This record gives sequence, C-alpha cells and structure tokens, in this order.
Amino acid sequence: SLAELKTDVAKNVRNFADFPKKGILFRDIMPLIQNSKLLNELCHAIANHVKEDLGGAVDAVAGLEARGFLFGPSVAILLDVPFIPIRKLGKLPGKTIKATYVKEYGEDIVEIQADALQPGARVLIVDDLLATGGTMHAAIDLIEGAGGKVAEAFVLIELADLKGRDCLPQHVQLFSLISYA
Ligand code: PRP
Ligand code: ADE
Repeated sequence: SLAELKTDVAKNVRNFADFPKKGILFRDIMPLIQNSKLLNELCHAIANHVKEDLGGAVDAVAGLEARGFLFGPSVAILLDVPFIPIRKLGKLPGKTIKATYVKEYGEDIVEIQADALQPGARVLIVDDLLATGGTMHAAIDLIEGAGGKVAEAFVLIELADLKGRDCLPQHVQLFSLISYA
C-alpha cells in the first residue's frame, strides 16, 4: 500500500540547499524516479489508492510539467485511462485554457488543451511536490475550466510549512504521501 512505501520513498528523495535560489531547500525526486523497482511499486500503489479510496474510477490522470510527467503516465497506464499534460505556456498546440500563478520560487503560466476532457470527466491530478500550492491551484482551475471534476490532487511531497494545502479550493481533496515541516 502507499503507507507502506512512505519510508522507502522518503529515502529516495535528496535535499539540495540553495537551489534553484538561495534560501530554497530543494527536494529532488530523481533517485526515486531512477529506482525502477520502487517506482513500479509506487505507481501500482497510487493506482490502487485511486481504485479503493476515491469512490469510483477516474476518467483521466492529469500531470504537471515537468515532474508530474515522470510518473503520471505510468499511473494512467495502470488505470487504463488517458494521461492529460498540463504544460508551461506556449508548448501545447490548438485551443488552450491558461492559468497564471505564483510558486515558491517564481511566477508561471500553465495551459491545458481545451478539448482534453470529456464533460464531467473525473480527473486525478498528479505532481511531485506541493510548496505554496500555486501550481496545484492553477491545475485545478484548468481541469475545472476544461469541464472536468478533480477526483483528487495527489502529490508525493508536501512542504507543510508553506501551507499550500490551505490555499487550494475547499472542495478539492489533497493527498500527500510525505510531509516535510
Ligand atoms: C515545482 C514542482 C511543482 C511546483 C510546486 O515545479 O514540481 O510543480 O514547483 O511549487 P508551488 O506549490 O509553490 O507552486 P517547477 O515549477 O519548478 O517546474 P519543473 O517541474 O518543470 O521543474
Ligand atoms: N517546487 C517548489 N518548491 C520546491 C522545493 N523546495 N523542492 C523541489 N521542488 C519545489
């Protein structure tokens, strides 16, 4: 189960002080991504969590560029549903919906393709980490703007001190596997 993997996942996150800016303690998930056995177990556990804990199937998995792309598609395959990319401005062709946001170390705009979801689609949003919550908030706005419903906002890591959780819309459930003060 997800709970059983927590310790192993935590051991596969590295810390870098002052990256990408002075004062930021960067949590690097690449050791986890490169640990194929653990990553496989983790993706299966996320898929099982979705099936068992979210009150019914999801219709899609949406992932945030770039680190949500490292495991979101694997979870989508296990759930046998499409993976929907949420990308930084200017990367997706055709009609898009945009959201501007502020994050722990900068400001950005993200986009989703306007026709990415069926009306009312239940979507699992995945990302590696929640810091200020700006990125996840923008992703929720995009899913809802594209006609979907957020089944859950899922992150591997929550930086609890930054209180990003409190900045998300009340009606959305956030799940974090590991929480750092
Ligand atoms: C990081 C991280 C989250 C976001 C969290 O992505 O992967 O998406 O920041 O920060 P927030 O909660 O304060 O918004 P980043 O923007 O660095 O992009 P990358 O994944 O492309 O490296
Ligand atoms: N995204 C925002 N803040 C971060 C942090 N401290 N480590 C890794 N990714 C981040």
